[in-house]
Amino acid sequence: MITNIEKLDNFGRGITYINDKICFVDNALPNEKVEIEITKEKKKFKEAIAINILESSKDRIKPLCPYSNECGGCNLNHLSYDKENEFKYNKVKDLIKKFLNEDIELKDIVYDKEYEYRNKLVLHGNNKVLGQYKKLSNEIVSIDKCLLVNNKINEIISLLKNNNIEEATIKTSNDLSNILLNIKGNIKNIDELKNKVDVLIVNNKLLSTNKSIISNIGNKNYYLSSDSFFQTNRFLTESLYNEVLNIVKTINPCQVLDLYCGTGTIGIYISNYCKEIVGVDYNKSNIEDANKNKELNKCNNISFICNKVENIIDNYKNMDLIVVDPPRSGLDDHTRDILKKMMSKTIIYVSCDPVTLMRDLKDLKEIYNIKYIKPFNMFPRTYHCESVTVLERK
Ligand SMILES: C[S@@+](CC[C@H](N)C(=O)[O-])C[C@H]1O[C@@H](n2cnc3c(N)ncnc32)[C@H](O)[C@@H]1O
Repeated sequence: MITNIEKLDNFGRGITYINDKICFVDNALPNEKVEIEITKEKKKFKEAIAINILESSKDRIKPLCPYSNECGGCNLNHLSYDKENEFKYNKVKDLIKKFLNEDIELKDIVYDKEYEYRNKLVLHGNNKVLGQYKKLSNEIVSIDKCLLVNNKINEIISLLKNNNIEEATIKTSNDLSNILLNIKGNIKNIDELKNKVDVLIVNNKLLSTNKSIISNIGNKNYYLSSDSFFQTNRFLTESLYNEVLNIVKTINPCQVLDLYCGTGTIGIYISNYCKEIVGVDYNKSNIEDANKNKELNKCNNISFICNKVENIIDNYKNMDLIVVDPPRSGLDDHTRDILKKMMSKTIIYVSCDPVTLMRDLKDLKEIYNIKYIKPFNMFPRTYHCESVTVLERK
């Protein structure tokens, strides 16, 4: 079937209409004429893949990645990087219009290098095939290297190849001086791997002296363990945190909440400009690292709570600043309600999903003015988009 693509949806898929029914087309760009193969038929929509590009967009590029057609890791390999940034900026702009229906200042999107930016890779394995999941499938595409990760991670992939591995997580420090490897499976070259990495965990057993590596963001250092969260873009995290820091510097807050704090990275980053900070995260490994990070950075004005945000948020009333950095699902109803009741002057909302961000802003804007939104392309070659929003109590 041949069709014309009108625009991109929020997931970077081309949109076309077949007999008035919306159809989302993988590997298709606006203004292209493509031959498609339907992959899913539902009551309200269809899904398809473009198998032949009959009239190509000037924004189309030949993917550099040899696994681009199969691997589920990226979805915008066929779009120029300039247009990818434009797509993400416009996605946030359109969502503002759809959800907020008011003039909000949207700052220029911040971006850096499009490849080799990731400091973490999770590989999946099955019967000696080691790689990434195919798009929307549990089948594995064998890969020898990934263009999104740094070269230290790619060197480790080649050393893992002749083993029977179920899962491997490789992390590096942002300056690439330290490597952490956590593997599950049947490993033949453990000694070789031991010489190559700083932290080695095999089948849940620690085989190295240390269980964490140290990574830096700006002038702060952070312990990072296998099960802990750490921002994955080694080029752009400093800019993201500086955005938060610059606002903090203008308000010099006394009481600060750092909600969904991970290993305490944002709280510690801004700690020189705050009087007292409480960080909250429900992941035990994150809070263990957060407490070590507090010592490492000689930071005496921060403490951490290991609990769900929604369980503890009622305990806080008057705060000068609340930083929230939730997972893609955004804020839960209870947390949003309490944020509206709390006498907090400023909220800085760091978001990794503009759709849930807009849902939350639509509710919070009853009580808070939205000062601006600034998008960050933390995940090049994928449809994901990070942003920082500043809210001030009316
Ligand atoms: C996007 S990460 C942000 C981490 C940190 N702010 C950073 O920049 O590294 C989201 C964090 O929220 C935590 N989390 C998810 N749901 C939570 C909840 N309901 N309560 C507390 N923490 C939660 C996760 O463990 C994760 O560390």
